[in-house]
Amino acid sequence: MKTKRKKPARIKEDAAVFGTSKQPLRFIDLFCGIGGFRIAFERAGGKCVFSSDYDKFSQQTYEENFGERPHGDIHSVAVAEIPAHDILCAGFPCQPFSIAGVSKKLSLGRKHGFDDEKQGNLFFSIAEILDFHRPAAFVLENVKNLKGHDGGKTFDIIYRTLTEALGYTVYHKIIDAKSVVPQHRERIFLVGFREWRYFDFPQFPDKGPKLGSILEPKPDPKYTLTDHLWNYLQNYAAKHQAAGNGFGFGLVTENDTTRTLSARYHKDGSEILIAQNRKNPRRLTPRECARLMGYPETYKVVVSDTQAYRQFGNSVVVPVVGQIAQSVVRTLQQPLNASPDFVLTAAERTKSAKIKVTKTPSKYPKPKRRVS
Ligand SMILES: C[S@@+](CC[C@H](N)C(=O)[O-])C[C@H]1O[C@@H](n2cnc3c(N)ncnc32)[C@H](O)[C@@H]1O
Repeated sequence: MKTKRKKPARIKEDAAVFGTSKQPLRFIDLFCGIGGFRIAFERAGGKCVFSSDYDKFSQQTYEENFGERPHGDIHSVAVAEIPAHDILCAGFPCQPFSIAGVSKKLSLGRKHGFDDEKQGNLFFSIAEILDFHRPAAFVLENVKNLKGHDGGKTFDIIYRTLTEALGYTVYHKIIDAKSVVPQHRERIFLVGFREWRYFDFPQFPDKGPKLGSILEPKPDPKYTLTDHLWNYLQNYAAKHQAAGNGFGFGLVTENDTTRTLSARYHKDGSEILIAQNRKNPRRLTPRECARLMGYPETYKVVVSDTQAYRQFGNSVVVPVVGQIAQSVVRTLQQPLNASPDFVLTAAERTKSAKIKVTKTPSKYPKPKRRVS
C-alpha cells in the first residue's frame, strides 16, 4: 500500500550538517547485495539508515554481517517510507547493460537495457528516491558497458535524468580495481552532488597486488577441477580458438592479475582457474573470492559456495568504493563553492592547524645590492 507522499523538511545547509556538527552522514544502501558499499561508507564515518535487496541469500549474508535484514523489493517500499539521508548509494543491477547479460538476453529473445521491464527500469526507482529525498550526494556503480550500451543512449538518458531533470552535478569515471586487488575489474562510478561542488575522483595507480597475496595455503581439494570438467573446458576453448572467437578459460598463477570475477563463477569457474603443480587447476575458494573483492578477513561467509560465488561476483570492490567514499565525505565537509585549491584532506587540515604562526613576521635578509 502506498502511503501519502510528504516531502521531508528541507535539509539544513550542508556546511552546518557536514562541517561543524558531529552528526554522522546518513546513507542508504540500495540494491545492497552483501554490503560492499556499507563497509566503505561506514569506514568513512557514515551511518546506514536503510538497506534494500530482494535476494534472500544476500539478505542472509547481510544480516549475519551487519545485524540488520535489508528490506525486500524496492518497488514494495513507498518512497516516503525511506528515511531522510545525506548520501544515496546504489550498485544497481547490471545484467540489463553488461555485454554478457545483453547477449544472453538477445539469445533468449528477451529485452535488455531500459526495455527490460523488470530490471532495466530500476534506475528510475533511484531517480524517484533522489527526487523525493534530495540527498546531498549519491554514488552509483555499474558495469563499464553502461557507457556504450545502445550506442550511448542508455547512459545519455541516465546522465540527463540526473543532471537536467534532477539538477545534480554529476562526475563519472571508469575505475579498474586492479590497483587495490589482483583482479582486472572495470566499473563505472557516477558521483553526484545536489549543489555544485568540485569533486576529484581518487587516483588509482596502474600497478597493484598479485594473486599470490590472496591465495589460501591449503585449499580444500574439492576446489580442484575434475578430469571431466577440465577436459571439457580445454576442448571448448580449443574449438572456439579454432573458430577465432573467445579466449576460453583464464588460467592464472600467483604472479598474475585475474580476469573479472562474475556472478556465474559457480558454474564452471572458467574465468579464473589457478594452475597447480601436477594437478588439474582449481577454482578460487569463497574466502579467496572475498579477498579478491577486498572484503575484510572478519567478513562472514554463511551461505553455500554457489551463493557465495554469486554474491561476491555481483559485488563491488570494497577498497575502490572506500576511497570514493572518503573523497565524497571530504567534499561534503567543505563549504559550498570551495575552490579546489582550498580542499584539504583531514590529515592536511590537522597538519596546517599545528603550524605555529609567529606574531612578528620573520625578517628576510635584505637582497644584496648588485653593484654593476
Ligand atoms: C549488482 S548487485 C549489487 C551488489 C552490491 N553493490 C554489493 O556490494 O554486494 C545488484 C543487487 O540488486 C538486487 N536487486 C535486483 N532487483 C531488485 C529489486 N527490485 N529490489 C531490491 N533489490 C534488487 C539483486 O538481488 C542484487 O543483489
